[in-house]
Amino acid sequence: MRGYNEIYELLKSYNQEHLLNFYDELSDTEKHSLLEQIESIDFELMKKLYNTRNEHVDANKEIKSFPYVVADELSFDEKKKYINAGIEIIKAGKVAVCQLAGGQGTRLGFDGPKGTYIVNVTPPKSIFEIFADKIKKTYSDYGVKVKWYIMTSNANDEATKKFFKENNYFEYGEENISFFKQSELPLLDAEGDLILSDKGKVFMAANGNGGVYEALKSNGILDELDRLKIEYLGIGNVDNILLDILDPLYIGMMANGGYDLALKTIPKTSPNEKVGVVCKIDNKPGVVEYTEISEEMANMRDENGKLIYNEAYYGIAVFATELLKKIEKGLTYHIAFKKNSYIDKGGRYMAADTPNTYKFEMFIFDGFSFSENMLDLSVKREENFAPIKNKVGEDSPETAIKLYNDFYCLD
Ligand code: UTP
Repeated sequence: MRGYNEIYELLKSYNQEHLLNFYDELSDTEKHSLLEQIESIDFELMKKLYNTRNEHVDANKEIKSFPYVVADELSFDEKKKYINAGIEIIKAGKVAVCQLAGGQGTRLGFDGPKGTYIVNVTPPKSIFEIFADKIKKTYSDYGVKVKWYIMTSNANDEATKKFFKENNYFEYGEENISFFKQSELPLLDAEGDLILSDKGKVFMAANGNGGVYEALKSNGILDELDRLKIEYLGIGNVDNILLDILDPLYIGMMANGGYDLALKTIPKTSPNEKVGVVCKIDNKPGVVEYTEISEEMANMRDENGKLIYNEAYYGIAVFATELLKKIEKGLTYHIAFKKNSYIDKGGRYMAADTPNTYKFEMFIFDGFSFSENMLDLSVKREENFAPIKNKVGEDSPETAIKLYNDFYCLD
């Protein structure tokens, strides 16, 4: 590791030497860990991200519609064929699942990993337990313990693992559950400077759910999938309590058609719903965000009156393991201006009540462009999507509980 003087010079060359303003107040261990943290930062990347923060990600890209199959419009025979194929693949142990659980969950405002949030269903269960119930159902139906991966981040890794341990791994067997950590990037203040979360710590945050590709590689998960002869990895958001990855129809249809990637999507509720839609971007599969699609495009309809950009991506994708190996580093970074409290250059604690920091994130859907053959399966919203994003109102525990109870016919 480089010493203080070298690190100071490095910081100076990027006008970031304020990160060492409180160095003398730190213990030896804190000093060491601060220097180590600073050494791991890609300052050139941070400079570039700040300088290009106002550039529109998808400007000048050609956007076209993406064909999709409506699950409900499949014939009885087709459904039967795909379901049987899916069951065989699950029984053969060729599928694993991965939950993206590294997010900050700032909108929910819950102090802890989102998966540990207790949802007031009857009886009350954590989000992780709700998913555990699903995966255990697959075991009781098909006699196979599907491997369950959970992506965490520095901020919640320890608490997540502790929660699983305390809950005895939901009786699914510790050996069937693996945790891996995604990487982080520094936050920047409005002037583009790095900030401290503590006098001895640079303020870093998880690099977005698109960090999953690099994390799967660097944590040896892709090698493990190969070793275990797992051909498909279903990846889904942790905060959807109706997440249904191990759906035999979905898996069977993907395998039967030789697709390297399969999404489940849901029709938009209205042209202006604030969701990303599946489309072709420069002729490759992708998702365009509602902020990046014009009013005119959002309202375009086909000859049957259906919206052309109709299918919303809601955070579920099954990847062929082979495709995951091909998805390289270098996904686009998206930018958000968020509320974060930090220690300013004079050592004062800056409580944030308005957005004050830039956060850069990669999105999982930017990796879809590597697919050569993607399936978009349109499914019923009420059977697949009950998100917990906000504390109250839309997409809150209250709305998710209602959807969950309706789906399971509970009161
Ligand atoms: P969201 O974009 O909804 O973010 O994540 P979030 O962090 O949960 O919540 P807010 O925006 O701060 O309120 C969608 C999914 O991606 C995961 C989340 O855990 C969730 O399952 N995610 C997000 C990660 O795994 N890592 C990240 O860096 C960001």
